[in-house]
Amino acid sequence: MEIKLLSGALGAEIEGINLKEVNLGNFKTVNDLLLEHKVIFFRNQDITPEEQIELAKLFGPVEEHAYVKGLEGYPQITRLIKDADEKNQWGEGWHSDVSYNVTPTKAVILKSIKIPPVGGDTVFSNMELAWDTLDDEIKKIVINKKAEHYSLGAGFFIDNYKHFESNGNNSEEYSNSHPIVRTHPETGKKILFVNWTYTKNIVGLEKNESIEILNKIFEHQSRLDLTCRFSWTENAVAIWDNRSVIHYAIADFFPGRGLGHERVMDRIAVLGDQPF
Ligand code: SIN
Repeated sequence: MEIKLLSGALGAEIEGINLKEVNLGNFKTVNDLLLEHKVIFFRNQDITPEEQIELAKLFGPVEEHAYVKGLEGYPQITRLIKDADEKNQWGEGWHSDVSYNVTPTKAVILKSIKIPPVGGDTVFSNMELAWDTLDDEIKKIVINKKAEHYSLGAGFFIDNYKHFESNGNNSEEYSNSHPIVRTHPETGKKILFVNWTYTKNIVGLEKNESIEILNKIFEHQSRLDLTCRFSWTENAVAIWDNRSVIHYAIADFFPGRGLGHERVMDRIAVLGDQPF
């Protein structure tokens, strides 16, 4: 096995593991890599939807998306299709998946089906490092506070996304609050758990102060020295620890820039636990 770090902050590309061969017996190797690097990438992995589901189940119970319809025959898999003539890209804007649920997603396995010839990278940011490096004054204010996460925060891209199909659940907006600093259930590390897309206010602060503090945190957590960037090829797989990272799918290949290309990804998610 060869491990190539993507940056000094997080992320590793793993060579020498065939994801078709990961099972209960060798799962610990993959999980340890995930806990250490927070997002791990594998190229040339021609896994079928069934194999993607089996791989996800090793991490825990698979969850269907809160409101997006799954793939025909595989309701657990959400196919993310950006057409060539669409500007918006699923996941543009910093976020952690489904942070608005009582039990936000634990991990995501994303497989590339069709990749534009240029652009369409995904950037990840390390929220353990973001907490460690956050300004001490802000830490003091938010340490024991919760923030509210809203389910339709991603409306700005979903509303323009032709292939979005509702699964009939949760069409009304709902919210849940979570500790701003959560504890990783497997490593015990502290993690900054807010994100620009879904987190709208800090519970117990005046509106203006809440906006001001959140904006400072959003700016901090997107600092480039906390990130890594992955350039996709077809049949690549990313597995991220959704508790420890935020991510951003870059929409830099749209028709207005002469870069109208299709991008297709299959996403499956593993149910998490309630942040504490
Ligand atoms: C997502 O935000 O869940 C998708 C990321 C991507 O397509 O790169």
